[in-house]
Amino acid sequence: MNIEKIIDIAKKRGFIFQSAEIYGGLSGFFDYGPLGTIMKNKIENFWREFFVKSENNIFEISSRTIAPEPVWQASGHLKDFVDPITQCRSCKSMFRADNLIEEATGKFVEGTKADELTKIIKENRIKCPKCKGTLSDVRIFNLMLKTNVGPVEGTNAYLRPETAQGIFTNFKNILNSTRAKLPFGVAQIGISYRNEISPRQWIMRLREFNQMEIEFFFNPKKPEYPNFSEIAKKKLKIVTREEQKKSGKAVEMTAEDAIEKQIIPNQWMVYFMLKELDWYQQLGLPVEVLRHRHMLPEETPHYSKGNFDMEIKFDFGWKEVVGNAYRTDFDLQTHMKHSGKDLAVAEDGEKIVPHVIEPSFGLDRTFYGILLHCFVEDKKRGWDWFKFPAKIAPYIAAVYPLVSKDGLPEKAKEIFNSLKGCFGVFYDEAGSIGKRYARADEIGTNYCITIDYQTLKDNTVTVRDRDSTKQIRVEFKKLPEIIWKLTNKEIEFEKAGKLLKD
Ligand code: GAP
Repeated sequence: MNIEKIIDIAKKRGFIFQSAEIYGGLSGFFDYGPLGTIMKNKIENFWREFFVKSENNIFEISSRTIAPEPVWQASGHLKDFVDPITQCRSCKSMFRADNLIEEATGKFVEGTKADELTKIIKENRIKCPKCKGTLSDVRIFNLMLKTNVGPVEGTNAYLRPETAQGIFTNFKNILNSTRAKLPFGVAQIGISYRNEISPRQWIMRLREFNQMEIEFFFNPKKPEYPNFSEIAKKKLKIVTREEQKKSGKAVEMTAEDAIEKQIIPNQWMVYFMLKELDWYQQLGLPVEVLRHRHMLPEETPHYSKGNFDMEIKFDFGWKEVVGNAYRTDFDLQTHMKHSGKDLAVAEDGEKIVPHVIEPSFGLDRTFYGILLHCFVEDKKRGWDWFKFPAKIAPYIAAVYPLVSKDGLPEKAKEIFNSLKGCFGVFYDEAGSIGKRYARADEIGTNYCITIDYQTLKDNTVTVRDRDSTKQIRVEFKKLPEIIWKLTNKEIEFEKAGKLLKD
C-alpha cells in the first residue's frame, strides 16, 4: 500500500490539495479539487440514499457551523472536549501526549489522566520526536475553536466540533414540523472543526473536516428494532473489550449473539453497525479491512451505554472512521436543563425523553480509505489505477475519437453531448488512445467509449472495460441503457455487446 504514490496522484489529478498551498498551507486543512469534489458529492449522495432516503423515519437537516457559548456549555464541550498536550522544552513543538506515548511504547493510553501521562513519559524517557529535547508536563487543551460574532466586542461563539448538537438544539422544531413519532432519526451532513494538537496523516486528522451523522431517537422502554429477526443471523467482526486485553483480534459474531451476550447494548445499534459494514463494502472496501472495536471503559463517555468504533485498516494501522455511540438521553436532558425548554415527547399518555443511538461518519477518513483500498498497482498494464465502484467514480465513462481527423472528433462530440445528461462522462482527444486509456484508468473511469471509422458507417462504438480491459462493440444509441445495466450489475460486460478479440 503506497500512500505516497496515492497522495501524489490525488494532487496531480485534482482529488485533494493542501489548502492555501501558495502561502505555505495551514496544518490540518485540505481542499477537494475538481475530481475530489465530484467524488465527495457522490459519496454524500450515496450515504443520503442509503441511510436517509431508504428509511421512512429519518429526516435530514442542515444547521449552522457556529453556535453561541451556552450551547457548548450545555453540551459539555467547553469543559470536557479536551486532549492532553505536551511541549518540547527545546524546539517548542506541541504533541498530543497520548499519541506520543502510544507511538513510543505501543501501549494504548487514550483516556488516561494528565498526571499519569506525565509519569509515563518520564518513566519511559520519551523525548521530542523532532529534536530529542525534553518534554514538558502534560496539560489539558480544549479543542474548540472560538470566534466572536457581531461588531466590536460581539457575542462569544464557537465553531461546532460535531454536527450532532445542531440536531439536539433543533429537536423540538423538528418534532413539531414533521409530527414524527418515536422511533425516528435526524441526519446531517456538514463541516465540523476541531483545533487538533497535531493534525497528521494527510486527511486523517484535520482541523476542518466533514461529518455525516444520524441521531436516532427511541423510547427507552421500547428499545427493540422491529425487524430484528431479519438481521439476527448477520455477522459482525468485533474487537471485544476482552480481546483487546489479549490478542487484539476481532471476533466474528452474529447480531443476536452480540445482543444476547450483552456486548452491544441495543438492537438499533446493531442495525446501524451492520448497515455501515454493508455501505463500506459497496464503496469498494474489502470486508477484511473493516471491523468494529468496542471502546474501553476509560475511553467511553460517562453517559454512554457503549461506544463501538467502526475501523478501517489503513497503511499505518486500524483507525476509526465511524463512531457509534449509545448517548442515552444525555444531550436532550442537558439542553432541557440549560435552556429551560421542555424537549420531552408525549407518547402513550406519558412524557418521555428519548434515548439516542448515534452513528457518526467521518467523510474525509472514508475518502482516504476508498483511495487506499481501490488503488491498483499494475505492472502488467504499465500504470496504476483506481477501481472505484461506478456509484462514486468521478466519471463513469470517457468518450474518445480514435484520431483527431476525418470527422471523428465531430462524431465523438455529438455522442459525448448525447450522453452528458445520462451519466458522468468526459471528452478527450489529446494523445494516443493508449495514453488516454491510462489517464482514464488513473482517475477510476469505468468505461472508455471510442469512436472510429466504423462508427461513421454503422453507428457502432467500442466500449472498453476498466477492470478487465476487454472491449465490446455496441450501437451507440443503446449506450445509455447498456451503461445503466452494467453499472447496476444487471448484465456482464462480455455479454453486453459483441466481444472483440484482444
Ligand atoms: N458526534 C459524535 C462525534 O463527533 P467522533 O468519534 O468524535 O464522534 C466521528 O467523530 C467521526 O468524525 C470519526 O469517526 C472520524 O471519522 C471523524 N473525525 C473526528 N475527528 C476528526 C478529525 N480531526 N479529522 C478528520 N475526521 C475526524
